[in-house]
Amino acid sequence: MKKYFSSRLVIAVMPFCVALTPFNKVLAQAKTEDAKMNAYVKGLMSKMTLDEKIGQLNLVTIGAATTGSVVNKGVEENIKNGSIGGVFGVWGTTQTRQIQDIAVKNSRLHIPLIFGLDVIHGHRTIFPIPLGMSATWDMGLIKQSAQIAAKEATGEGLNWVFSPMVDIARDPRWGRISEGSGEDPWYGSQVAKAMVQGYQGTSMKDADAVMACVKHFALYGGAEAGREYNTVDMSRIKMYQDYLPPYKAAVDAGAGSFMSSFNTVDGVPATVNQWLLTDLLRKQWGFKGFVVSDYTAVNEVTDHGLGDLQTVSALALKAGLDMDMVGEGFLKTLKNSLTQKKITQQEIDLACRRVLEAKYKLGLFDNPYKSMDADKEAKEELSTANRAAAREITKHSFVLLKNDNQTLPLKKGGSIALVGPLADNHRDMLGTWVIAGEWQKSVSVMEGIKNVVGNNVAINYAMGANITEDSLFIKRLNFGPGMVSLDAKPANELLKEAVDAAKKSDVIVAVVGESQSMSGESSSRSDIDIPESQKNMLKELSKLGKPMVIVLFNGRPLTLTWEDKHANAILDVWAPGTEAGNAIADVLFGDYNPAGKLTATFPRSVGQIPIYYNHKNTGRPYKGGPSKFRSNYLDISNDPLYPFGYGLSYTTFNYSAVSVNKTKLKGNETLTANVTVTNTGKYAGEEVVQLYISDPVASISRSVKELKGYQKISLQPGASKQVSFTITPEQLKFYNTQLKYDWEPGEFVVEIGTNSADTHNASVWWAK
Ligand code: NOJ
Repeated sequence: MKKYFSSRLVIAVMPFCVALTPFNKVLAQAKTEDAKMNAYVKGLMSKMTLDEKIGQLNLVTIGAATTGSVVNKGVEENIKNGSIGGVFGVWGTTQTRQIQDIAVKNSRLHIPLIFGLDVIHGHRTIFPIPLGMSATWDMGLIKQSAQIAAKEATGEGLNWVFSPMVDIARDPRWGRISEGSGEDPWYGSQVAKAMVQGYQGTSMKDADAVMACVKHFALYGGAEAGREYNTVDMSRIKMYQDYLPPYKAAVDAGAGSFMSSFNTVDGVPATVNQWLLTDLLRKQWGFKGFVVSDYTAVNEVTDHGLGDLQTVSALALKAGLDMDMVGEGFLKTLKNSLTQKKITQQEIDLACRRVLEAKYKLGLFDNPYKSMDADKEAKEELSTANRAAAREITKHSFVLLKNDNQTLPLKKGGSIALVGPLADNHRDMLGTWVIAGEWQKSVSVMEGIKNVVGNNVAINYAMGANITEDSLFIKRLNFGPGMVSLDAKPANELLKEAVDAAKKSDVIVAVVGESQSMSGESSSRSDIDIPESQKNMLKELSKLGKPMVIVLFNGRPLTLTWEDKHANAILDVWAPGTEAGNAIADVLFGDYNPAGKLTATFPRSVGQIPIYYNHKNTGRPYKGGPSKFRSNYLDISNDPLYPFGYGLSYTTFNYSAVSVNKTKLKGNETLTANVTVTNTGKYAGEEVVQLYISDPVASISRSVKELKGYQKISLQPGASKQVSFTITPEQLKFYNTQLKYDWEPGEFVVEIGTNSADTHNASVWWAK
């Protein structure tokens, strides 16, 4: 055991006879389970000392994967004396078992540890980054990715994942936009639910289930200027309407834990915000799990200006924070605060009970080693089935941004110039947050193309450009060893090789964009163009007049105005994960027709940010072009380059007018809106038919439109399908100035279309 620490420092009672309805039965069973859990936890707590109770509130990292600047010391001793409740940053049956042994065999009360990890978009088999996953518009696939991650993680000793991140983000400068599901609260809520269900299954006791940790509570994606860890300040209406719904959806889906965010909410840091952690989360929403801080977030409240470590630790506990990640403020100060009557015994007991309840719900008191299963570990890790699922899921995440003259799909013959720093690259296939994922096991674009077309296509490869030539930028990107390096050849030589390769080829496939460390935590960018070195290469190549396809890697929406003008086709593949190359080749060569749709708006320029489809009208709305005394710019249009919901297909779809079954409704009646979609192209394809509703007259200024539903359909060439949406008053509700969630009578416009900016509309009048 010692060796491990020293060598890896861096890192039913339902007593009746009356017939019950199934619902009552479920309720009764839950009550019984709760009663059993309460009795167990109460019994255990009656034996615990104050120190042991505070110990349960302490989460440490032993440093295999650190995501902050502090690493805990003296972990083994602290586990033995009951001063640690959970460990994260370590995985693998052997390692976790050794650590669990210390708690179970050597601590006084033998309380098992909970093991957490940042399993964000896959554990060993890596799926696309969450922003890419969200572009699938397929909750089944999203849930499946979480299930596979949970299966792999539960073979390696883990029972808790720091996911899903459900922060709404409307500013692509913020590097963590990559980790969420984009800008829309309703859509983000669907994803939040699917992820929680995928991780937790029907019972967290199940062998393949892990506890989800929903983060970052709350509003982290609203950081001013898109700058990481920056202040967030917004009205309550905006919070409730646009930012809070996904967290609430995760609570409703039964999420076991939440993580507080680094930012302030209404002027008070989230980690010590009683309104947020107790009034809203627990009292209004009924959350029953525990809340952990983010990495040293309790300590950081001192820098927010609320006092010394003892003060802020007491504030955090009182606010409703149950577990302190890494910073040890709870461990070091709560006892003193109790003596000084700054906190109460009940507050400590409450937090301790919530942590113990989580362990109970996970079944750790029955079997502390339940997820430490060497056979399962060997069987699940990157299994053939998991990789096959990843390939399938990944190709659904790609968004075809442009495809002039049917440049794509490529034919399985002739020659291609495969160029760009991401073309023959494993390092950057997985994207941000891949703690246990190994980039060496990913499929490069070059390999994928060879797998799909064999020798039928001649590949003329050249790297063409470095990811970036900017040495300061490279230094910052290299927070891990060897993430970005400069090629030994000078830039002009690299460029010449690409041009030569292109000259010999029928078509150019340029694989360019952001490398792994350009997005994710602490990776804000003020310029969201493709880096200059790569753009220069594209510019030179475009002069050749050959068809040019851009395969775009990106952890955020980028500004692609030049690329949109000069490339013939652009396929956005995000950071695709382990099966990157195979999935990309499947799509490039037409074995799969892309159907992904954007969940975050792509601006034309950083000057337009924040830009999102569900904005307000203003009193002087934009009228499709700059004009004096209107809400617009002198130098650029208000329109985004690619709107929310946008994405092309190799085929084309025609939408009929929207028909509604009634134009006048009252009260709880339901409205049916229909549209007929026809595949007017040559390929079979899938289409995400999107429903938006707008509420032109209300007691507050409403968003110009809001997504309220979608259906993903599949059509053969020439085939048509009627798509029907049922609309009830529930979908008309919004938060008014009293924060009451209700709808107001009047006109509503039902909009159905292929993206948020291209819809067919019908108006109805709905009386109360
Ligand atoms: C900091 C990040 O903000 C959070 O998302 C992550 O889960 C923790 N570190 C733990 O690594």
